[in-house]
Amino acid sequence: MKKKLSIIWGIVLMLTVILAACGTPEEKGSDTETNKEEEKKTLRVVTDAAYAPMEYQDKGEVVGFDIDFVKAVAEEAGYELEIEHVGWDPIFVEIGGNRADLAVSSITINDDRKQTYDFSVPYFQSTNKILVPEGSDIKSAEDLKGKKVAVQNGTTGQMAMDALLGKNHEDIKKFEDNNLAIMEMESGGADAVVADNMIVEEYAKNNPDKNLTVVEDGTFESEFYGVLFPKDSELVDEVNTAINAILANGTYSEIYQKWFGNEPNIEVLKEQQ
Ligand code: ARG
Repeated sequence: MKKKLSIIWGIVLMLTVILAACGTPEEKGSDTETNKEEEKKTLRVVTDAAYAPMEYQDKGEVVGFDIDFVKAVAEEAGYELEIEHVGWDPIFVEIGGNRADLAVSSITINDDRKQTYDFSVPYFQSTNKILVPEGSDIKSAEDLKGKKVAVQNGTTGQMAMDALLGKNHEDIKKFEDNNLAIMEMESGGADAVVADNMIVEEYAKNNPDKNLTVVEDGTFESEFYGVLFPKDSELVDEVNTAINAILANGTYSEIYQKWFGNEPNIEVLKEQQ
């Protein structure tokens, strides 16, 4: 009987040793990673990557000014990112439902959005502009009256057209992504597209065969982009600190140079804070 018991104890002991040994490699694995890596949290970033050169897809990868910008901010603040193209309307659903930590998508800071979401400090200045086929008789915003205008649904471009032509006016053609709005004009379904200046200017320049031009006089209000967060997100302060750091240390200018080939006006961004 005694012998039996000690055999059982022996087995229990052996099993304990084996189990403990099994556990070790796993623990060791995480131990060997640097402490910093271990602490780095991954943030889920959502975007509408159909807005070149700000955010678009290149060989399945999401790239653009905003993407380089948010990566630099994350690096500065000590976060890893997981960036996902979800589309424009879904951005607001994901952020509203707290399923994403932040969104970067050339999102204009405005009072309406501020009621539901939080924004970072402004990181980019922009304005809506009018894209038309060369030779168009549209020379100013006023000339859009009586014309069909394609816009991306739920953007400040649409809001500008609501204000100019009347909310839900039948001449305002709304699309879920800005590329579809441009295609509508190219196929003759609209006379103009109203969208952010960087996007329409870049599109006209990069597609010379399409004979498009940006109306110089067609100016709308000045706007500023911000990073979008769920309301009361704890990340806002950290992200603002990181944005200010990259504005000050030259990283922001470097990214701006890479995408636009000239120096950003950092003063005008700072003045808005
Ligand atoms: N700046 C405009 C707005 O906030 C348009 C942004 C559209 N962005 C995009 N990735 N499609 O309404």
